[in-house]
Amino acid sequence: MNNRLNELQTRIENVLDTTLSAKSQQLEIPSRLLEAMRYSTLDGGKRIRALLVYASGFAVNAPLNKLDTVAAALECIHSYSLIHDDLPAMDDDDLRRGKATSHIQFDEATAILAGDALVTLAFELINAPTSPFSDTQSREISHILSQCAGASGMVGGQMLDILATQQTLSQPELENIHRCKTGALIRAAVICGALCAEQKNNIAIKQLTIYANNLGLAFQVVDDILDIEASTEELGKTSGADQNLGKSTYPSIIGLEESKLLAQNLYQEAIASISSISDNTESLLELANLVVNRKK
Ligand code: IPE
Ligand code: IPE
Ligand code: MG
Ligand code: MG
Ligand code: MG
Repeated sequence: MNNRLNELQTRIENVLDTTLSAKSQQLEIPSRLLEAMRYSTLDGGKRIRALLVYASGFAVNAPLNKLDTVAAALECIHSYSLIHDDLPAMDDDDLRRGKATSHIQFDEATAILAGDALVTLAFELINAPTSPFSDTQSREISHILSQCAGASGMVGGQMLDILATQQTLSQPELENIHRCKTGALIRAAVICGALCAEQKNNIAIKQLTIYANNLGLAFQVVDDILDIEASTEELGKTSGADQNLGKSTYPSIIGLEESKLLAQNLYQEAIASISSISDNTESLLELANLVVNRKK
């Protein structure tokens, strides 16, 4: 990862730490709940969704303070989705980001509530009177975020993923699940980053959406591949979990080599789509490469 992305990773870590400190909240939060929210959000994630917010924002010259807030909101929603994904009723995992999952470290009720609190915090960050956005920006960002995170996006995709467990899916059915459960939040990161620009740039947003749709699918294809090829130590989550749970994955449907080829093709489509939007697409290109060639 280049210096620029490394610096941004440190930056979002600090933004999240400040956001999730009792002092920054106006109301009292039960200490156990705040502890669980911090436990699952801070220290450990790759921060790819936050980095996509910054990279997309840079492509349209959006101000950094607005990108900080949107990046934090995306990572809160993502962390909530991981806490709930790991619950016994979902994927029943006990390891996440190299440590015990929330329901193991705390208990199921606390994990569910920490997830609930993180997703609502994301919308508070975007809509608080002290937020850096214009009313139009808050509304547009909230709309994209809620649509992508909700029933027609991530949550809907998770429902389809659960229903498909122990079933044999066609490739289009699996593609739809992946585009919803993982692609939608990646699309939200990219579009909401671009919505932070002072002047809305519809042409750039259209191209960035194509970039995000390709990269979002590639992201989950690579996640499926890594579940087979990487170790539990490398991943910081249980390797081989998909097969143990009877999940349909890209490797299980089209094979490992075809899956790798597909990820590369999606990468090419992604980078081609942003070739003419601005001179500031370096971070977007670097991130596309990172998503497809990552080892964890
Ligand atoms: C894992 O996402 C969940 C999926 C959508 C596949 P990441 O691989 O981005 O997880 P962290 O945030 O780096 O832990
Ligand atoms: C998760 O997909 C998608 C989410 C919405 C969290 P997975 O179930 O494959 O993610 P991991 O492999 O547990 O991180
Ligand atoms: Mg899952
Ligand atoms: Mg899982
Ligand atoms: Mg997975």
